[in-house]
Amino acid sequence: MCLRHKKILFGISGGIAAYKTPDLLHGWVKMGFEVETILTESAEAFVSPMVLSTLSKRRVWRECDFLSPEYGWRIPHISLTDWADLFVIAPCTGNVLRMAAEGDSETLLGAALLANQKPLLLFPAMNCKMLANEAAQRHMKTLEARGAVVVDPDSGMLACGYEGKGRLPSAAVIDDYVKMMLCAKKDLAGLRVVVTAGPTHEYIDPVRYISNPSSGKMGYAVARAAWQRGAEVTLITGPSTLTRPAGIKVVETVSADDMYEACMKASEEADVIVKAAAVGDYKAANRAEQKIKRGGAQEFTLELVQNRDIAAALGRRKRPGQVLVGFAAETQNVLENAQRKMAEKNLDIIVSNDVLAQGAGFAVDTNVITILERGAEPARFSGTKEEAADRLLDAVAALTAKR
Ligand SMILES: Cc1cc2nc3c(=O)[nH]c(=O)nc-3n(C[C@H](O)[C@H](O)[C@H](O)COP(=O)(O)O)c2cc1C
Repeated sequence: MCLRHKKILFGISGGIAAYKTPDLLHGWVKMGFEVETILTESAEAFVSPMVLSTLSKRRVWRECDFLSPEYGWRIPHISLTDWADLFVIAPCTGNVLRMAAEGDSETLLGAALLANQKPLLLFPAMNCKMLANEAAQRHMKTLEARGAVVVDPDSGMLACGYEGKGRLPSAAVIDDYVKMMLCAKKDLAGLRVVVTAGPTHEYIDPVRYISNPSSGKMGYAVARAAWQRGAEVTLITGPSTLTRPAGIKVVETVSADDMYEACMKASEEADVIVKAAAVGDYKAANRAEQKIKRGGAQEFTLELVQNRDIAAALGRRKRPGQVLVGFAAETQNVLENAQRKMAEKNLDIIVSNDVLAQGAGFAVDTNVITILERGAEPARFSGTKEEAADRLLDAVAALTAKR
């Protein structure tokens, strides 16, 4: 999905978390977004206009510009909201929540909020007692009812020393929301999509396990892209160090057995299931209760038994209209093995990837895939895992539309 050159109007208000905004803005510029910034007078106590204008490569709109004869002819609060594709306010103070809810246009940011007809994304951040106040809660509800997306703050240690809810979410979460709101393609809206991702850990004793190097990057990219395209997404993840995506229900699993149970449960409601996890084929026949000691023996034999085949079980219980997508990580006879797996497991689409190919495989950011679909020519694609996820979802969307 191409988000380059999308235009973000970035409102920064006077909360302590404003000190994080240069990093956010820098990230957006690197992603190819154009960013205009409005800084409230209070925000200037927490972040410098010079830093923001250097990073955005544009002037920063300050309160002193609002009624200035120098810029009056541009009517900044009107022209900026006309220009933007998305209006984001982070951090959004209790005061700006009130201004937005009441239509208070005494300041540049307030006037821009009143004039705005573009999608509005707010990240309230404040002390937990301020957030819990009925006024703040009421203003957030009012704004949501008017169509704004108001993201729940995180909980944890606050800058003021209190422990509670009110933190600005991480940059990764903010970026997920920004991309979701900028994504114009909503062809998966109304669909329930289940994605599996990551490795499994098959413990042989309390401290050792058998696994594989899957990072979860491909599955997480599919889950994020499906959410951005309007789907209601459940991500069933094995142990992965990746940041959990925003806006998505996440089910944590460890072993292939856990993942099997989670998949069977989630499949009952799913319209689409994408199986991108690297599930272990075998587990220990007998998991030791205590740590296995080295002892005197030179050889140690571990007896393994097969795990249940999740893809095959999903294929057997597939409902009419449900779309089942598998991945085939292969090292030889890549396409033939993938074709066989698609037929044997009753899959609708299979994504084959040669994990030994350059730029493909576990834990890297790129992938080389071939999308195989019944009755269609294989489609080969190489690019980032985000791009590969989008390409796959194009095929899924086309199939769900047909059905
Ligand atoms: C050190 C300090 C930190 C503050 N942090 C926050 C905050 O995180 N969230 C908030 O809503 N207000 C915070 N305030 C209060 C706002 O700065 C104050 O309400 C101000 O009027 C907001 O102006 P603005 O909404 O126009 O930016 C803080 C004040 C101080 C002195």
